[in-house]
Amino acid sequence: MPRKVNYGVDYDDDYEDDYNDDYDYDYDEEVEENGITAKTMPAKEVRSAKVWRCPICTYDNEDSMSACDICGILRNPLVKSNIQINDVAAPFKFNVPSPDDLVSSGLQSLKMKSKDNQRDTNIPVELELSAKDQESTSASVTRQRGNGVNEKDYAPTSGSIPGMPHRNVNTEAMSSKTGKVEKTIERKTASISDFTPETWMIPETVDGELSQLNLAIVGHVDSGKSTLSGRLLHLSGRISQKLMHKYEKEAKQQGKGSFAYAWALDESAEERERGITMTVGVAFFTSKKYHIVLLDSPGHRDFVPNMISGATQADAAILVVDASMGSFEAGIDATGGQTREHAQLIRSFGVDQIIVLVNKMDVVGYSKERFDFVKQKLGTFLRTCGFKESSISWVPASVMENQNLVANSSDSRLSWYRGPFLMDAIDSLQLPARDYSKPLQIPICDVKSQSQSQVSACGKLETGAIRPGLKVLVMPSKEITTVRSLERDSQPCSIARAGDNVTVNLQGIEGNRVTAGSVICHPDYPVQVACQLEMKILVLEISTPIVIGSQLEFHIHHAKEAAKIVKILSLLDPKAGKVTKKSPRCLLSKQNAMVEVALQGPVCVEEYSSCRALGRVFLRASGRTIGLGVVTQIIKTEN
Ligand code: GTP
Ligand code: MG
Repeated sequence: MPRKVNYGVDYDDDYEDDYNDDYDYDYDEEVEENGITAKTMPAKEVRSAKVWRCPICTYDNEDSMSACDICGILRNPLVKSNIQINDVAAPFKFNVPSPDDLVSSGLQSLKMKSKDNQRDTNIPVELELSAKDQESTSASVTRQRGNGVNEKDYAPTSGSIPGMPHRNVNTEAMSSKTGKVEKTIERKTASISDFTPETWMIPETVDGELSQLNLAIVGHVDSGKSTLSGRLLHLSGRISQKLMHKYEKEAKQQGKGSFAYAWALDESAEERERGITMTVGVAFFTSKKYHIVLLDSPGHRDFVPNMISGATQADAAILVVDASMGSFEAGIDATGGQTREHAQLIRSFGVDQIIVLVNKMDVVGYSKERFDFVKQKLGTFLRTCGFKESSISWVPASVMENQNLVANSSDSRLSWYRGPFLMDAIDSLQLPARDYSKPLQIPICDVKSQSQSQVSACGKLETGAIRPGLKVLVMPSKEITTVRSLERDSQPCSIARAGDNVTVNLQGIEGNRVTAGSVICHPDYPVQVACQLEMKILVLEISTPIVIGSQLEFHIHHAKEAAKIVKILSLLDPKAGKVTKKSPRCLLSKQNAMVEVALQGPVCVEEYSSCRALGRVFLRASGRTIGLGVVTQIIKTEN
């Protein structure tokens, strides 16, 4: 979970590009290659009177078992829509309550939603955002923000609203049983493209006003991400000399002297004790061109879900790589290197600009050969993730010795390097296009209850704009509430627009009605809340095939949910997106496929074609990211 960093007393606050083009393979041959013999995968499950044999692991299960006791696969791959997820043992865990602990009423109350024929299987699963796509969805970001004008706020209730289509379907009804007002929020049938933004939502150009850039710091464990973040805060004046001395003294006392800068971001006792980041630290500083929101991610593999939740807000990223011998190699290792996993994830968040900070150059004597080696090896991999050569900057540096960060290196051993120092590379990043003119959507990443009926929720505005006094809707709790105030970098602000990372202080709502994974939205354009989805996925490196019944962790914006595959609809050609095989029995590494996933509980989600940030999905199992996907269709919404 991301958390805002408090600066203490001084501040108030490939796939290797070798996709198998021909998917018309023989299934039995394929499973043999994967160490499962054709014999063990009969076309139909083998049953005797008392037992049934699992088609995957061949274990003979008792007849009463609806799923294999060994591997968890469902007994009958043709899952009916009324099957309950909690019928099946859920053999995974992550750092939220286990699926077994969750009440699984979701699938019983599902409502079939009419299927839209216009399903878009041509959405690229590598989630490329072409410049053209971005332009088409929003106003230009080169225009800078101005103060809001006194237009009438949009209202949540029915009636004719300036700038709004006249199709309000949200209703409030008095429950005869409870006497309480119950709100029913129904999705508009008309397209969001009918939405007309009010004038205050569109920024004016104001000379000298800086835009906000959300910058994720990612990379393998111990590569120096937090040390870099602390250094940048110190060098930009956000951490005073006095506070820095305090960190140095305390870190030394705990025998962790080298972590002094990291302590600015790693605030909890456990993080400091272990010398690792566990949750994303959020901090702010200003460069020549931007107000930068630093998102310092944990590099340890156990905390990838937290990294996903925080770094999913990024506009651009710094991938920190440890240049020292063996460390770079560990990060790029296919079986657990987080340089690799983070690069894949960050690209699938829609980030297409990346600065690779080749750190700890002091350890390798600022060697050009080592830098070139890292650049060549990692460059090949980054291109396979979908990063364009021209969107990758390579900066050799030593965070520890403050070389090449905010000024050109003073160490003569780095004289061979002619490129920009880190801060210049940051200022060369381009802001992505922002969707100011769409209805408001803020996926919430962190929540603090201030007092009864008052809640502070943090998050990045994905679309639209917000200002104090505005009525907003919180989903999935369906609560309509009022924005009391807004804060950016702990300072009150009068307006925030798409791309801004803010704290929204809400009044008239209980703390338990707003959680990480909730979405603040326009009352007339509620985000969808779904339990079953069709997705296009790209399978990453996996050792066990994905089959119907496979249990997964489903991550979307800041929400996580237990899920299982209920249908494997087709395999797709990765380039053309055409169906190459219908209803395959399983999915293997590097395959593109259409699948249907059932969630244990409902999540706020949009189809990728209507909101990218709310339609990108990450699938994890056994502590690894096993697939990246986009939501192509919502099959079942919460009733
Ligand atoms: P996680 O958050 O746990 O993934 O680690 P991290 O990437 O944030 O690394 P962190 O900043 O905690 O630094 C790990 C260790 O690397 C610390 O001991 C730092 O002092 C050291 N370190 C960071 N940068 C440099 C550098 O430029 N040179 C050398 N020699 N050591 C460095
Ligand atoms: Mg760290």
